[in-house]
Amino acid sequence: MSPMSPEEVEKRIKKLRKDLEQHNYNYYSLSQPTISDFEFDMMMEDLQALEKKYPQFFDPNSPTQRVGSDISQEFKQVVHQYPMLSLSNSYSSQEVTDFMQRVEKFSGEQPDYVCELKLDGTSISLTYRDGELLRAVTRGDGEKGDDVTANVRTIRSIPLKLHGDFPASFEIRGEIVMPFAVFDALNEERIEQGEAPFANPRNAASGTLKMQNSSVVASRKLDAYFYYILGENLPEDGHFELLQHAARWGFQISPHTGKCKDIDEVLNYLSVWDKKREELPFATDGVVIKVNSKRVQEELGFTAKSPRWAIAYKFKAERVSTRLLNVTFQVGRTGAVTPVANLEPVQLGGTVVKRASLHNADIIQGLDLHANDLVFVEKGGEIIPKIVGVDTTQRNASGSAISFITHCPECGTALVREEGEAAFYCPNEDECPPLIKGKIEHFISRKAMDIDGLGSETIDLLFQQGLIRNVADLYDLKKEQLILLDRMGEKSADRILDGLKNSASVPFERVLFALGIRYVGETVAKKLAKGLKTIDALMIADITTLVAVDEIGIKIAESIVDWFSKEKHLELIARLKTFNLKFETENVVKEGSTDKLKGMSIVVSGTFSTFSRDELKADIELHGGKNASSISAKTSYLIAGENIGPSKLEKATQLKIPIITEEEYRQLTN
Ligand code: IVH
Repeated sequence: MSPMSPEEVEKRIKKLRKDLEQHNYNYYSLSQPTISDFEFDMMMEDLQALEKKYPQFFDPNSPTQRVGSDISQEFKQVVHQYPMLSLSNSYSSQEVTDFMQRVEKFSGEQPDYVCELKLDGTSISLTYRDGELLRAVTRGDGEKGDDVTANVRTIRSIPLKLHGDFPASFEIRGEIVMPFAVFDALNEERIEQGEAPFANPRNAASGTLKMQNSSVVASRKLDAYFYYILGENLPEDGHFELLQHAARWGFQISPHTGKCKDIDEVLNYLSVWDKKREELPFATDGVVIKVNSKRVQEELGFTAKSPRWAIAYKFKAERVSTRLLNVTFQVGRTGAVTPVANLEPVQLGGTVVKRASLHNADIIQGLDLHANDLVFVEKGGEIIPKIVGVDTTQRNASGSAISFITHCPECGTALVREEGEAAFYCPNEDECPPLIKGKIEHFISRKAMDIDGLGSETIDLLFQQGLIRNVADLYDLKKEQLILLDRMGEKSADRILDGLKNSASVPFERVLFALGIRYVGETVAKKLAKGLKTIDALMIADITTLVAVDEIGIKIAESIVDWFSKEKHLELIARLKTFNLKFETENVVKEGSTDKLKGMSIVVSGTFSTFSRDELKADIELHGGKNASSISAKTSYLIAGENIGPSKLEKATQLKIPIITEEEYRQLTN
């Protein structure tokens, strides 16, 4: 096939972007996908490859940008064009009735109302211009919030480009949520990795949204629903009708929204959803009741804190009391010990609750738990119920205070707790059974060595048989040993052996991640592989060398030095080397890349005729330069385009930073 001309490439890229957007719309807005996930992934890979090869066609709203980037960002503060207010709360049907009577008295009419679920996440305001996502800002203090656009782009259900007949400029507000299933999986992973679990999906959603690394945000699978449209020249007066428009533009709108004529219909909605919300895949904490007509909304206006045309009705968190039987302690894959309360079974929110997580030692102490205590258990935003208090009046003298264990329940080693950490750990990483199995499971996992055919059950069996005690033992497994295992056929055994053989082609950064060194997650492993290139260099690196690597801090550096100071780990690496695993970074050179701008920090300002700003920035990186957003004494060049900001020009002149044109930049890099 003859190579494509630049015009053809651009056309192909644009077509792929358009098609992928359409498939996203079919999936999220219409719930009617027309292609399989596999076909979608293939198209995405095509587009990624083309964009990588032809960075001049970069577009921040390309569907590929949803994977995020590991470039750390500081959030810019942005003043909201319309302040983000909160709602006044109500807790009874009487208060809701009072609200509706107030509305009717003030407005002199009997307006329609809209009832919506009050989603329990974190609010976000998106600005769209000419059908493209321009900016995403958090609520902040209501007046100004953080610009989290890069992170929001990774949320698949948020449209980057709109469909149909949308206004040229508008803001849309909604709630970013973490579905229960994602929340539970994330917390499980955090507990395993010795990190403190999030207390509820709301904290998890807002914590995720504020992360510096958007590729981690992408992996967390947030979702978003929208409930408020602001702007001039909107196509409808009715809020309910406007939401239907927004759904056609590509937004997921607040689900199960209902239009109500009078108090009876509103109260009916409240009682239906008070129960039915338990079936929803995400957390809700109430219902929002709004006047439908924007005209009437405007007449009613706002108080200093909240609109007069809306009110929140809060659900009562379900709470029951039961006896605490005992507290057991579970040891996770990194050795983090999690306390679990075993309860006398009790009905709560439609399920029987027997256990509640206590998260860590501080929580046990904070609650002042004693054996046999009568405890209050609540099901709030999360699926796993929590103990929210103790009825001390019911305490019987026999129960002694529950204290955290001092030794590992699996291997008896004394537990340790590091300064600033919430969790206690079993430090016996090479001998404690759950830790050994956990390390091996991590090693074979998809993001690490991705060994086909091997799962935790097989690891368990192999461990029980005494066939594996560390990850290198996997490579010594023989087919004869494997087929003797329960439910293991010849085919499955071959698959495992092939998987192991093929893992020799897994890149160094993933091998490094697979070793399971504390604090060396995927991103850190990537940075280390890029910075130090080989395991031999890493093995002898001291703290100073390590912290000189981009984004490596002292805590990570200490953990690495400690890991490599152990003889058994050096032996393990030596053994893995004999199985030909990759212990060096391979050089990947981007097409057209040079180091003509190496070590330079460049600021781009204004508009350009032969580049878009983003293309110019991508080009700077292609030539080894770094993009900076503001001018300092360290700036190498300011590339000045048309309509450049006067303050930038002034600062550059003051600091004697060379100011160059687009043409001069071309000469520099050609
Ligand atoms: S309307 C001017 N609708 O509740 C008021 N808010 O206390 C605009 N929320 O910050 C908000 N679901 O984060 C509205 N269907 C819904 C909502 C909702 C959740 C949150 C939102 C807001 C807070 C108000």
